[in-house]
Amino acid sequence: LIGTLSALALTALATQAQAQCDDGEMVIKFSHVVADKGHPKGDAARLLAERVNEEMNGTACMEVFPNSTLYDDDKVMEALLLGDVQLAAPSLAKFEAYTLKYRLFDLPFLFPSLDAVNKFTTSDDGKALLKVTEDEGYTGLGFWSSGLKQFSANKPLLEPQDAAGLKFRVQTSDVAVAMIEAMGASAQKLAFKEVYGALQTGVVDGQENSWCNTYTQKFFEVQDGISETNHQLLAYLLVTSTEWLEGLDPAVRDQFLKIAEEVTQKANEDVAAQEATCRQNIIDAGGKIRELTPEQRAKWVETMKPVWAKFEGDIGKDLIDSAVKSGS
Ligand code: LMR
Repeated sequence: LIGTLSALALTALATQAQAQCDDGEMVIKFSHVVADKGHPKGDAARLLAERVNEEMNGTACMEVFPNSTLYDDDKVMEALLLGDVQLAAPSLAKFEAYTLKYRLFDLPFLFPSLDAVNKFTTSDDGKALLKVTEDEGYTGLGFWSSGLKQFSANKPLLEPQDAAGLKFRVQTSDVAVAMIEAMGASAQKLAFKEVYGALQTGVVDGQENSWCNTYTQKFFEVQDGISETNHQLLAYLLVTSTEWLEGLDPAVRDQFLKIAEEVTQKANEDVAAQEATCRQNIIDAGGKIRELTPEQRAKWVETMKPVWAKFEGDIGKDLIDSAVKSGS
């Protein structure tokens, strides 16, 4: 009986999720891994859906599946090609299987601010990077910043040597592994939805993430504190399948792409303020944030920057120079 009831409940839920789509409307599914609200990606995905559902009513209907409820970031890339979802926004650190160019965005201390990121991603060099996964069947519709990353651990981290011997969860990124190893620590690649449990049970000692991920996933509750290192960017590619996009009626495609472009711009305008709110929310909830002195920060830079040389060949020196210029 319980099995039948839960099957009925699931059917009801599924029907509910579809309910807003009318017959004949094209369904656009957007799957992501973060919180639905109070997070730059969650908020931007909802805004995109609201605008599509209002302005393309009768033609298209968007449904958002947050919090890894549908797919994690590995699986979603396959799901895009299979046509099971039409949109995703994995972090750029997770594209190693599709392009090595995005290693650029992971270089530690590359961008001094989110303004510098925006300047670069809207430049010709930045925009050209939307196309580098086309051979693999994907088209990038926009870069969405999520914030600069901070380290957290089960002990105070003020200088990189404080991390020696610890194990940190990283995204599926070899740049992150090299960076953690430069600190004398070890790295373990884990899916986002596994991070809280891994921190709680001591499978890993620490992690690195944006303020909003650290707040909305409650990582701060199972860590000693967060060190304000601002050492690396977290940003996403709003990505779709090229085949799906090219198969759209041209007028529908133009309308959809215009909405996506406007939402991308708005998301990037709002992100710094959202991150500041999440930082404050951590403090208000009793989390410990450690600010670094200029001398301490200099040690993080000195330890991590040598990692750049290792990936220069994959990325290209000109592209690195162009990104650096956007911050100067
Ligand atoms: C992570 O895995 O830490 C992030 O990529 C999650 C996200 O989408 O912000």
